Amino acid sequence: MNLQTQYQDTSPLLSIKTTLIIWVIYQTEDFKSHIQMQLETQNKLKGVFVHAADLTSLTQKESIAPDLIFVEAKDNWMQTIDDLQSLSYPFKEISAALIVFGDESDPMALKSALKLGASDFLSQNSNIEQLSDLLVHTAQEKLSNSVQGESFAFINTKGGTGTTTVAMNTALVLAEYHPGKVLFLDMDNQFGVAASYMDIYPKYNIQDVYDELDGLDESSLSALVTQLESGLHFLSLCQNSVFNDIDRNMNVEQFFSVLRRYYDYIVVDFSRGVEPFMAEAISHFTKVILVVQQNITSIRNASLIAKALSFDYGVSSEQQTLLVNRFEKRQQIGLQDIQHTLPNVECHCIPNDFKNISESNNLGNPVVLSKPSSALSKAFHVFAASLVPIEHKSQSWFERLLS
Ligand SMILES: Nc1ncnc2c1ncn2[C@@H]1O[C@H](COP(=O)(O)OP(=O)(O)O)[C@@H](O)[C@H]1O
Ligand SMILES: [Mg+2]
Repeated sequence: MNLQTQYQDTSPLLSIKTTLIIWVIYQTEDFKSHIQMQLETQNKLKGVFVHAADLTSLTQKESIAPDLIFVEAKDNWMQTIDDLQSLSYPFKEISAALIVFGDESDPMALKSALKLGASDFLSQNSNIEQLSDLLVHTAQEKLSNSVQGESFAFINTKGGTGTTTVAMNTALVLAEYHPGKVLFLDMDNQFGVAASYMDIYPKYNIQDVYDELDGLDESSLSALVTQLESGLHFLSLCQNSVFNDIDRNMNVEQFFSVLRRYYDYIVVDFSRGVEPFMAEAISHFTKVILVVQQNITSIRNASLIAKALSFDYGVSSEQQTLLVNRFEKRQQIGLQDIQHTLPNVECHCIPNDFKNISESNNLGNPVVLSKPSSALSKAFHVFAASLVPIEHKSQSWFERLLS
């Protein structure tokens, strides 16, 4: 048995609630391998080991912002900390705590470290147990400070009003402006058609993600979602089968809340309505979009759902939107009639365009991608901009670097 496995067998499993990225800036191979051995005992700790003479490798575009920075107090270490602070990185800011490792009995080193902004000075021989308080606390802080993305629920007010079509095209427009930052969730447990509308064949489904929820991190999530070329990420309940039973004990609220840590925008297709056990989760959505058509049944149902949302689930009128799909001016029921039924709720419309929609749905190439200059695509852009103003466009790392 080698030393490392021996250590792993005896070291405690710490309750580190989320993945921590730790930059380890070393001067000596001894320190590097010692820290490496400690971090490897916990699967939530990802060490990025960089020699003090090679700090520029941290500025590469693949570099991920650290949650902690460990610096070995040897040789020119104070200069190293200065250099670390003056480099430009491909992310907005570093909020990581700086921990200096050295000889604890050297008061000068300790003083200098604190002067340079270090949060702590620890022995270079610290083991994982001695680091546990720091690691558990940092993970806890990271979770409580994590910014939650916005979420949009698209709910059908009658079968076949085009909820999947509008939710999917809206998600694609958002992903155009925020590639990799938008997740589309198809919650239809019977005929998850969105995958077919986009001609994709997901390997995993929502249940797979839910099963991994406690240990989820960026890399496991990115392996479970289907990533489209357009920048949209996708997950559905149904995968390679027509019927998929939902786990009714699922903690839906927790599921959405965890995903909102990883995505700026989550678009959810509730085109089969909202199952009662999911209804509570709706109250946490940024916006609820009721998809209606110009017929009495759909409008009446929209009005009932809107009232239930306001009175039973605390979703205010400002958080609700009526989206009239397949809109035609010459229909008996006009836009104003629909607006009158829910005067405090914002109303938008998407025109009827059977030819373009059915062609793109059948070909598996959504209309905003296949016919970007059509009136229909323009309507999706206008609607998406009403949810997320265009100026909120996520900056790429390169743009941020220049700004
Ligand atoms: N704006 C539109 N214009 C014309 N046809 C549409 C439009 N939106 C959806 N459809 C058609 O309506 C049908 C139902 O769409 P779908 O999105 O699957 O509905 P839902 O999810 O509400 O069941 C599909 O055949 C689709 O092509
Ligand atoms: Mg549908």
